[in-house]
Amino acid sequence: MTPVQVNTPGGRYPIHIGAGRLQKLQESVPDNVTAIAIITNPTVGSLYLRDARESLERTGKHIIEITLPDGEAHKNWETLQHIFDALLENRFDRKCLLVALGGGVIGDMVGFAAACYMRGVRFLQVPTTLLAQVDSSVGGKTGITHPLGKNMIGAFYQPVAVEIDTNVLHTLPEREIAAGLAEVIKYGLIADAAFFCWCENQVNALKALDEEKISYAIQRSCECKAHVVGEDERESGLRAILNFGHTFGHAIEAGLGYGDWLHGEAVGCGMTQAAELSAHTVGLDTASVKRIRNLVHAIGCPITPPNLGTERWIELMQVDKKTEGGQIRFVLLPEIGKAVVQAAPLNVVRDVLHKTAVPAL
Ligand code: NAD
Ligand code: GLY
Repeated sequence: MTPVQVNTPGGRYPIHIGAGRLQKLQESVPDNVTAIAIITNPTVGSLYLRDARESLERTGKHIIEITLPDGEAHKNWETLQHIFDALLENRFDRKCLLVALGGGVIGDMVGFAAACYMRGVRFLQVPTTLLAQVDSSVGGKTGITHPLGKNMIGAFYQPVAVEIDTNVLHTLPEREIAAGLAEVIKYGLIADAAFFCWCENQVNALKALDEEKISYAIQRSCECKAHVVGEDERESGLRAILNFGHTFGHAIEAGLGYGDWLHGEAVGCGMTQAAELSAHTVGLDTASVKRIRNLVHAIGCPITPPNLGTERWIELMQVDKKTEGGQIRFVLLPEIGKAVVQAAPLNVVRDVLHKTAVPAL
Protein backbone atom coordinates (compact mmCIF):
# COMPACT_ATOMS: atom_id res chain seq x y z
CA MET A 1 0.00 0.00 0.00
CA THR A 2 1.36 3.46 -0.89
CA PRO A 3 2.33 5.32 2.29
CA VAL A 4 0.14 8.28 3.27
CA GLN A 5 2.27 11.42 3.45
CA VAL A 6 1.84 14.02 6.21
CA ASN A 7 3.22 17.48 5.42
CA THR A 8 3.12 20.02 8.24
CA PRO A 9 5.39 22.96 9.08
CA GLY A 10 6.52 20.90 12.11
CA GLY A 11 7.51 17.85 10.06
CA ARG A 12 6.94 15.76 6.93
CA TYR A 13 6.65 12.01 7.35
CA PRO A 14 5.13 8.84 5.92
CA ILE A 15 2.43 6.62 7.42
CA HIS A 16 3.09 3.00 6.43
CA ILE A 17 0.03 0.75 6.64
CA GLY A 18 -0.09 -3.02 6.21
CA ALA A 19 -0.11 -6.48 7.74
CA GLY A 20 3.36 -7.27 9.12
CA ARG A 21 4.74 -3.71 9.45
CA LEU A 22 5.91 -4.63 12.96
CA GLN A 23 8.48 -6.86 11.28
CA LYS A 24 9.76 -3.93 9.20
CA LEU A 25 10.24 -1.15 11.73
CA GLN A 26 13.93 -0.84 10.80
CA GLU A 27 12.80 0.86 7.56
CA SER A 28 11.65 3.89 9.56
CA VAL A 29 14.81 4.38 11.63
CA PRO A 30 16.92 7.30 10.38
CA ASP A 31 20.56 6.32 9.64
CA ASN A 32 22.20 8.67 12.11
CA VAL A 33 20.25 7.42 15.17
CA THR A 34 22.63 6.56 18.02
CA ALA A 35 20.34 4.44 20.25
CA ILE A 36 16.71 3.35 20.41
CA ALA A 37 14.30 3.19 23.38
CA ILE A 38 11.18 1.08 22.81
CA ILE A 39 8.52 2.36 25.19
CA THR A 40 5.42 0.25 25.82
CA ASN A 41 3.20 -1.14 28.59
CA PRO A 42 2.88 -4.71 29.98
CA THR A 43 -0.27 -5.51 27.94
CA VAL A 44 1.17 -4.52 24.57
CA GLY A 45 4.70 -5.51 25.52
CA SER A 46 3.72 -9.10 26.28
CA LEU A 47 2.16 -9.35 22.80
CA TYR A 48 4.41 -7.31 20.51
CA LEU A 49 7.65 -6.19 22.13
CA ARG A 50 9.63 -9.18 20.87
CA ASP A 51 8.67 -8.61 17.22
CA ALA A 52 9.28 -4.88 17.50
CA ARG A 53 12.67 -5.44 19.09
CA GLU A 54 13.72 -8.04 16.52
CA SER A 55 13.01 -5.72 13.61
CA LEU A 56 14.71 -2.74 15.27
CA GLU A 57 17.77 -4.89 16.05
CA ARG A 58 18.35 -5.15 12.30
CA THR A 59 19.59 -1.55 12.45
CA GLY A 60 22.50 -2.64 14.64
CA LYS A 61 21.72 0.18 17.11
CA HIS A 62 21.85 -0.08 20.89
CA ILE A 63 18.30 -0.77 22.16
CA ILE A 64 16.69 -0.40 25.59
CA GLU A 65 13.12 -1.22 26.65
CA ILE A 66 11.02 0.96 28.96
CA THR A 67 7.77 -0.46 30.29
CA LEU A 68 5.21 1.97 31.69
CA PRO A 69 2.06 1.05 33.62
CA ASP A 70 -1.04 0.53 31.45
CA GLY A 71 -3.98 2.94 31.53
CA GLU A 72 -5.19 6.56 31.34
CA ALA A 73 -4.59 6.97 35.07
CA HIS A 74 -0.83 6.81 34.40
CA LYS A 75 -0.74 9.46 31.67
CA ASN A 76 0.96 11.91 34.02
CA TRP A 77 4.22 13.57 35.16
CA GLU A 78 5.26 10.63 37.30
CA THR A 79 5.25 8.25 34.33
CA LEU A 80 7.00 10.81 32.15
CA GLN A 81 9.71 11.11 34.78
CA HIS A 82 10.22 7.34 34.55
CA ILE A 83 10.99 7.74 30.83
CA PHE A 84 13.47 10.57 31.46
CA ASP A 85 15.16 8.57 34.28
CA ALA A 86 15.73 5.61 31.96
CA LEU A 87 17.02 7.77 29.09
CA LEU A 88 19.47 9.63 31.33
CA GLU A 89 20.62 6.51 33.19
CA ASN A 90 21.38 4.93 29.80
CA ARG A 91 23.15 8.11 28.57
CA PHE A 92 20.81 8.62 25.62
CA ASP A 93 21.99 11.61 23.56
CA ARG A 94 20.21 14.04 21.25
CA LYS A 95 20.42 11.63 18.31
CA CYS A 96 18.44 8.87 20.01
CA LEU A 97 15.05 7.59 18.82
CA LEU A 98 12.05 6.88 21.05
CA VAL A 99 9.61 4.26 19.75
CA ALA A 100 6.02 4.47 21.02
CA LEU A 101 4.64 0.92 20.93
CA GLY A 102 1.03 1.01 22.17
CA GLY A 103 -2.30 2.79 22.05
CA GLY A 104 -3.03 6.50 22.31
CA VAL A 105 -1.92 6.74 25.93
CA ILE A 106 1.60 5.47 25.13
CA GLY A 107 1.76 7.47 21.88
CA ASP A 108 0.74 10.77 23.51
CA MET A 109 3.17 10.30 26.41
CA VAL A 110 6.14 9.16 24.36
CA GLY A 111 5.59 11.99 21.88
CA PHE A 112 5.61 14.51 24.71
CA ALA A 113 8.70 12.89 26.27
CA ALA A 114 10.40 13.19 22.86
CA ALA A 115 9.39 16.85 22.62
CA CYS A 116 10.94 17.57 26.05
CA TYR A 117 14.01 15.31 26.32
CA MET A 118 17.09 17.42 25.56
CA ARG A 119 14.64 19.96 24.06
CA GLY A 120 13.56 17.54 21.38
CA VAL A 121 14.60 14.12 20.08
CA ARG A 122 13.05 12.02 17.31
CA PHE A 123 10.25 9.52 17.87
CA LEU A 124 8.48 6.81 15.88
CA GLN A 125 4.78 6.06 16.35
CA VAL A 126 3.82 2.36 16.30
CA PRO A 127 0.11 2.55 17.20
CA THR A 128 -1.51 -0.71 18.29
CA THR A 129 -5.16 0.25 18.83
CA LEU A 130 -7.49 1.14 15.96
CA LEU A 131 -8.15 4.51 17.58
CA ALA A 132 -4.45 5.28 17.74
CA GLN A 133 -3.92 4.09 14.14
CA VAL A 134 -6.61 6.36 12.68
CA ASP A 135 -6.30 9.32 14.98
CA SER A 136 -3.88 9.86 17.86
CA SER A 137 -0.64 8.73 16.15
CA VAL A 138 -1.14 11.16 13.27
CA GLY A 139 -0.78 14.93 13.46
CA GLY A 140 1.55 15.50 16.39
CA LYS A 141 -0.73 16.22 19.34
CA THR A 142 1.19 14.89 22.33
CA GLY A 143 0.76 15.34 26.05
CA ILE A 144 -0.24 14.20 29.49
CA THR A 145 -3.18 14.76 31.82
CA HIS A 146 -3.16 17.16 34.78
CA PRO A 147 -5.39 16.37 37.79
CA LEU A 148 -7.44 19.45 36.78
CA GLY A 149 -7.83 18.62 33.10
CA LYS A 150 -7.35 15.84 30.55
CA ASN A 151 -4.51 16.37 28.03
CA MET A 152 -3.92 19.88 29.38
CA ILE A 153 -0.10 19.73 29.33
CA GLY A 154 1.47 18.97 25.97
CA ALA A 155 3.07 20.00 22.71
CA PHE A 156 2.55 19.78 18.98
CA TYR A 157 5.44 17.51 18.01
CA GLN A 158 5.55 15.36 14.88
CA PRO A 159 7.03 11.83 14.68
CA VAL A 160 9.59 10.72 12.06
CA ALA A 161 7.08 8.16 10.76
CA VAL A 162 3.98 6.18 11.72
CA GLU A 163 4.12 2.38 11.37
CA ILE A 164 0.66 0.78 11.33
CA ASP A 165 0.49 -3.02 11.48
CA THR A 166 -3.07 -4.22 10.92
CA ASN A 167 -2.22 -7.66 12.39
CA VAL A 168 -2.07 -6.25 15.91
CA LEU A 169 -5.77 -5.33 15.81
CA HIS A 170 -6.74 -8.99 16.22
CA THR A 171 -5.84 -9.01 19.92
CA LEU A 172 -7.97 -5.95 20.71
CA PRO A 173 -11.17 -6.38 22.75
CA GLU A 174 -14.38 -5.77 20.73
CA ARG A 175 -15.15 -2.55 22.59
CA GLU A 176 -11.79 -1.08 21.54
CA ILE A 177 -12.56 -1.92 17.90
CA ALA A 178 -15.95 -0.22 18.13
CA ALA A 179 -14.31 2.83 19.73
CA GLY A 180 -11.79 3.02 16.87
CA LEU A 181 -14.50 2.60 14.24
CA ALA A 182 -16.31 5.63 15.71
CA GLU A 183 -13.27 7.75 14.77
CA VAL A 184 -13.19 6.13 11.31
CA ILE A 185 -16.77 7.09 10.49
CA LYS A 186 -16.09 10.56 11.90
CA TYR A 187 -13.85 11.22 8.86
CA GLY A 188 -16.67 10.29 6.52
CA LEU A 189 -19.01 12.62 8.36
CA ILE A 190 -16.72 15.66 8.38
CA ALA A 191 -14.93 15.27 5.06
CA ASP A 192 -16.01 12.46 2.75
CA ALA A 193 -19.67 11.50 2.23
CA ALA A 194 -18.74 8.65 -0.13
CA PHE A 195 -16.47 7.15 2.56
CA PHE A 196 -19.33 7.35 5.09
CA CYS A 197 -21.54 5.49 2.64
CA TRP A 198 -18.78 2.88 2.10
CA CYS A 199 -18.55 2.38 5.90
CA GLU A 200 -22.33 1.81 6.03
CA ASN A 201 -21.99 -0.92 3.40
CA GLN A 202 -18.91 -2.54 4.94
CA VAL A 203 -19.79 -2.36 8.61
CA ASN A 204 -19.76 -6.11 9.22
CA ALA A 205 -16.46 -6.58 7.38
CA LEU A 206 -14.95 -3.72 9.36
CA LYS A 207 -16.10 -5.17 12.69
CA ALA A 208 -14.65 -8.54 11.65
CA LEU A 209 -11.34 -6.80 10.76
CA ASP A 210 -11.41 -8.03 7.16
CA GLU A 211 -7.84 -7.22 6.07
CA GLU A 212 -8.63 -5.44 2.82
CA LYS A 213 -11.51 -3.40 4.23
CA ILE A 214 -9.89 -2.39 7.51
CA SER A 215 -6.67 -1.41 5.71
CA TYR A 216 -8.64 0.81 3.36
CA ALA A 217 -10.58 2.34 6.28
CA ILE A 218 -7.30 3.13 8.08
CA GLN A 219 -5.74 4.53 4.94
CA ARG A 220 -8.71 6.77 4.10
CA SER A 221 -8.89 7.97 7.73
CA CYS A 222 -5.18 8.80 7.76
CA GLU A 223 -5.51 10.62 4.41
CA CYS A 224 -8.34 12.75 5.80
CA LYS A 225 -6.43 13.53 8.97
CA ALA A 226 -3.20 14.24 7.06
CA HIS A 227 -5.06 16.70 4.85
CA VAL A 228 -6.58 18.57 7.81
CA VAL A 229 -3.37 18.79 9.87
CA GLY A 230 -1.44 19.74 6.74
CA GLU A 231 -3.72 22.78 6.41
CA ASP A 232 -3.79 23.65 10.12
CA GLU A 233 -1.19 21.91 12.28
CA ARG A 234 -1.82 23.94 15.44
CA GLU A 235 -5.61 24.08 15.39
CA SER A 236 -6.07 27.75 14.65
CA GLY A 237 -9.10 26.93 12.49
CA LEU A 238 -9.84 23.92 10.29
CA ARG A 239 -8.33 21.27 12.63
CA ALA A 240 -11.20 21.84 15.07
CA ILE A 241 -13.48 19.82 12.72
CA LEU A 242 -11.63 16.69 13.89
CA ASN A 243 -13.48 17.24 17.15
CA PHE A 244 -16.88 16.35 15.69
CA GLY A 245 -18.87 14.66 18.48
CA HIS A 246 -16.17 15.50 21.01
CA THR A 247 -17.95 18.37 22.83
CA PHE A 248 -20.73 15.98 23.87
CA GLY A 249 -18.24 13.09 24.14
CA HIS A 250 -15.88 14.88 26.52
CA ALA A 251 -18.85 15.79 28.73
CA ILE A 252 -19.78 12.09 28.88
CA GLU A 253 -16.23 11.10 29.83
CA ALA A 254 -15.82 13.84 32.43
CA GLY A 255 -19.38 13.48 33.78
CA LEU A 256 -19.15 9.73 34.31
CA GLY A 257 -15.50 9.73 35.36
CA TYR A 258 -12.76 8.80 32.86
CA GLY A 259 -12.57 5.10 32.09
CA ASP A 260 -16.27 4.26 32.42
CA TRP A 261 -16.95 4.75 28.70
CA LEU A 262 -14.03 4.46 26.28
CA HIS A 263 -13.08 7.73 24.55
CA GLY A 264 -14.26 6.44 21.16
CA GLU A 265 -17.57 5.22 22.62
CA ALA A 266 -18.21 8.67 24.07
CA VAL A 267 -17.31 10.25 20.72
CA GLY A 268 -19.64 7.83 18.91
CA CYS A 269 -22.59 8.76 21.12
CA GLY A 270 -21.52 12.42 20.98
CA MET A 271 -21.66 12.29 17.15
CA THR A 272 -25.32 11.22 17.29
CA GLN A 273 -26.05 14.18 19.59
CA ALA A 274 -24.06 16.57 17.39
CA ALA A 275 -26.03 15.26 14.39
CA GLU A 276 -29.30 16.07 16.16
CA LEU A 277 -27.97 19.53 17.03
CA SER A 278 -26.95 19.99 13.40
CA ALA A 279 -30.54 19.27 12.35
CA HIS A 280 -31.74 22.03 14.70
CA THR A 281 -29.11 24.60 13.71
CA VAL A 282 -27.55 24.09 10.27
CA GLY A 283 -30.21 22.13 8.43
CA LEU A 284 -28.92 18.54 8.47
CA ASP A 285 -31.84 16.48 7.16
CA THR A 286 -33.55 13.99 9.46
CA ALA A 287 -32.74 11.04 7.18
CA SER A 288 -29.02 11.79 7.66
CA VAL A 289 -29.45 12.04 11.45
CA LYS A 290 -31.00 8.59 11.35
CA ARG A 291 -28.22 7.17 9.17
CA ILE A 292 -25.64 8.47 11.64
CA ARG A 293 -27.47 6.94 14.63
CA ASN A 294 -27.84 3.64 12.80
CA LEU A 295 -24.17 3.40 11.86
CA VAL A 296 -22.90 4.35 15.34
CA HIS A 297 -25.22 1.69 16.75
CA ALA A 298 -24.13 -0.85 14.12
CA ILE A 299 -20.42 -0.51 14.92
CA GLY A 300 -21.23 -1.31 18.55
CA CYS A 301 -21.09 2.10 20.26
CA PRO A 302 -23.79 3.35 22.63
CA ILE A 303 -26.29 5.85 21.19
CA THR A 304 -28.20 6.69 24.36
CA PRO A 305 -26.30 9.33 26.32
CA PRO A 306 -26.00 8.99 30.09
CA ASN A 307 -28.38 11.03 32.21
CA LEU A 308 -26.04 13.66 33.63
CA GLY A 309 -28.80 16.25 34.15
CA THR A 310 -29.22 19.04 31.59
CA GLU A 311 -27.44 21.79 33.54
CA ARG A 312 -24.52 19.50 34.37
CA TRP A 313 -24.23 18.68 30.65
CA ILE A 314 -24.04 22.39 29.84
CA GLU A 315 -21.49 23.03 32.60
CA LEU A 316 -19.28 20.19 31.37
CA MET A 317 -19.50 21.27 27.73
CA GLN A 318 -18.49 24.82 28.66
CA VAL A 319 -15.05 23.48 29.70
CA ASP A 320 -14.41 22.51 26.04
CA LYS A 321 -11.34 24.13 24.40
CA LYS A 322 -13.56 25.51 21.59
CA THR A 323 -15.64 27.62 24.03
CA GLU A 324 -15.22 31.34 23.35
CA GLY A 325 -16.52 34.07 25.68
CA GLY A 326 -18.67 31.50 27.52
CA GLN A 327 -20.39 30.42 24.27
CA ILE A 328 -20.09 26.72 23.54
CA ARG A 329 -18.97 26.16 19.94
CA PHE A 330 -19.79 22.89 18.22
CA VAL A 331 -18.66 21.08 15.11
CA LEU A 332 -21.88 20.79 13.10
CA LEU A 333 -22.82 19.12 9.82
CA PRO A 334 -24.96 20.99 7.26
CA GLU A 335 -24.79 17.71 5.35
CA ILE A 336 -22.88 14.43 5.63
CA GLY A 337 -19.31 15.07 4.47
CA LYS A 338 -19.22 18.77 5.35
CA ALA A 339 -18.43 20.35 8.75
CA VAL A 340 -18.63 23.86 10.20
CA VAL A 341 -17.68 25.16 13.65
CA GLN A 342 -20.11 27.57 15.28
CA ALA A 343 -21.85 28.50 18.52
CA ALA A 344 -25.32 27.10 19.18
CA PRO A 345 -27.98 28.85 21.31
CA LEU A 346 -28.25 27.27 24.76
CA ASN A 347 -32.01 26.77 24.52
CA VAL A 348 -31.50 24.68 21.37
CA VAL A 349 -28.72 22.67 23.05
CA ARG A 350 -31.08 21.99 25.99
CA ASP A 351 -33.81 20.80 23.58
CA VAL A 352 -31.36 18.45 21.91
CA LEU A 353 -30.19 17.07 25.27
CA HIS A 354 -33.80 16.29 26.15
CA LYS A 355 -34.54 14.80 22.76
CA THR A 356 -31.45 12.56 22.55
CA ALA A 357 -32.01 11.27 26.09
CA VAL A 358 -34.89 9.21 24.66
CA PRO A 359 -33.65 6.08 22.89
CA ALA A 360 -35.23 5.81 19.44
CA LEU A 361 -33.76 3.97 16.50
P1 NAD B 1 -5.10 3.04 25.31
O1 NAD B 1 -3.80 3.51 24.83
O2 NAD B 1 -5.37 3.12 26.77
O3 NAD B 1 -5.30 1.53 24.82
C1 NAD B 1 -6.47 0.85 25.21
C2 NAD B 1 -6.13 -0.50 25.88
O4 NAD B 1 -5.77 -1.42 24.86
C3 NAD B 1 -4.94 -0.43 26.82
O5 NAD B 1 -5.17 -1.29 27.92
C4 NAD B 1 -3.80 -0.97 25.97
O6 NAD B 1 -2.75 -1.51 26.72
C5 NAD B 1 -4.51 -2.02 25.17
N1 NAD B 1 -3.92 -2.35 23.88
C6 NAD B 1 -3.28 -1.54 23.02
N2 NAD B 1 -3.01 -2.19 21.89
C7 NAD B 1 -3.46 -3.45 22.03
C8 NAD B 1 -3.48 -4.59 21.19
N3 NAD B 1 -3.04 -4.55 19.94
N4 NAD B 1 -4.04 -5.73 21.67
C9 NAD B 1 -4.56 -5.77 22.92
N5 NAD B 1 -4.59 -4.72 23.76
C10 NAD B 1 -4.05 -3.57 23.31
O7 NAD B 1 -6.31 3.80 24.57
P2 NAD B 1 -6.51 4.37 23.09
O8 NAD B 1 -7.95 4.32 22.85
O9 NAD B 1 -5.59 3.74 22.13
O10 NAD B 1 -6.05 5.88 23.24
C11 NAD B 1 -6.73 6.76 24.11
C12 NAD B 1 -5.81 7.92 24.38
O11 NAD B 1 -5.51 8.60 23.17
C13 NAD B 1 -6.40 8.97 25.31
O12 NAD B 1 -5.44 9.31 26.28
C14 NAD B 1 -6.70 10.14 24.41
O13 NAD B 1 -6.58 11.38 25.07
C15 NAD B 1 -5.64 9.98 23.37
N6 NAD B 1 -5.98 10.59 22.08
C16 NAD B 1 -5.07 11.41 21.53
C17 NAD B 1 -5.30 11.98 20.30
C18 NAD B 1 -4.26 12.84 19.65
O14 NAD B 1 -4.54 13.46 18.63
N7 NAD B 1 -3.06 12.87 20.17
C19 NAD B 1 -6.50 11.69 19.62
C20 NAD B 1 -7.42 10.83 20.20
C21 NAD B 1 -7.15 10.27 21.44
N1 GLY C 1 -7.78 14.18 17.61
C1 GLY C 1 -7.97 15.52 17.22
C2 GLY C 1 -6.77 16.15 16.63
O1 GLY C 1 -5.78 15.49 16.39
O2 GLY C 1 -6.79 17.33 16.41
